[in-house]
Amino acid sequence: MLSIITAINQNYVIGRDNQLIWHIPEDLKRFKKITLGKTIVMGRKTFESLPKVLPDRKHIVVTRDENYSTSDNRVTVIHSIKDILKYKDSPEEVFIVGGEQIYKQLLPYCSKLYLTEIMSYENGDTYFPEFNKADYEIIEYEKHYDNYIKYNFLTLEKKFFRNNGL
Ligand SMILES: NC(=O)c1ccc[n+]([C@@H]2O[C@H](COP(=O)([O-])OP(=O)(O)OC[C@H]3O[C@@H](n4cnc5c(N)ncnc54)[C@H](OP(=O)(O)O)[C@@H]3O)[C@@H](O)[C@H]2O)c1
Repeated sequence: MLSIITAINQNYVIGRDNQLIWHIPEDLKRFKKITLGKTIVMGRKTFESLPKVLPDRKHIVVTRDENYSTSDNRVTVIHSIKDILKYKDSPEEVFIVGGEQIYKQLLPYCSKLYLTEIMSYENGDTYFPEFNKADYEIIEYEKHYDNYIKYNFLTLEKKFFRNNGL
């Protein structure tokens, strides 16, 4: 099964200058709790924006550069995003963690979205793709307010995927 995890603001902005815009400790904790021990898939730009390889997670990095490599054995480099689609029907939950290019290509194949919805309107240069909320059922919704930032944790499940299993 493929899931997306992302933090987006009211303009669907996810980043600027190859970085995250917000620093919300509770959001980082949630990201860690949800992805720990799992496989995370990201574009080469998001990988390079990380301060370090994230502990206890298998990383899959997508790039078109056939010479791209890393010596870290927790990181697998792949060149075709289609290789990720095999996880669509696997019992293992694999997380698509960004950025814009990767979300855009894989959103149609993801059955769950773990969203942090930030209640602000900063400008950025990368966006989450627009999607129809009516296609999803909200299975978790939690409001938060820390350090003058209002944000919500939501988990959305695609209706088609849920009905398909009945
Ligand atoms: N708010 C959030 O939750 C969140 C999460 C993650 C990232 N972000 C932000 O998103 C921004 C980065 O997003 P981005 O869209 O610029 O970059 P990205 O999606 O992280 O990476 C793009 C790169 O992925 C590779 N790629 C894309 N499609 C491919 C395909 N079909 N086949 C093979 N390789 C492919 C290419 O690498 P090559 O150029 O090497 O070929 C491309 O340049 C940053 O600001 C980051 O902080 C935000």
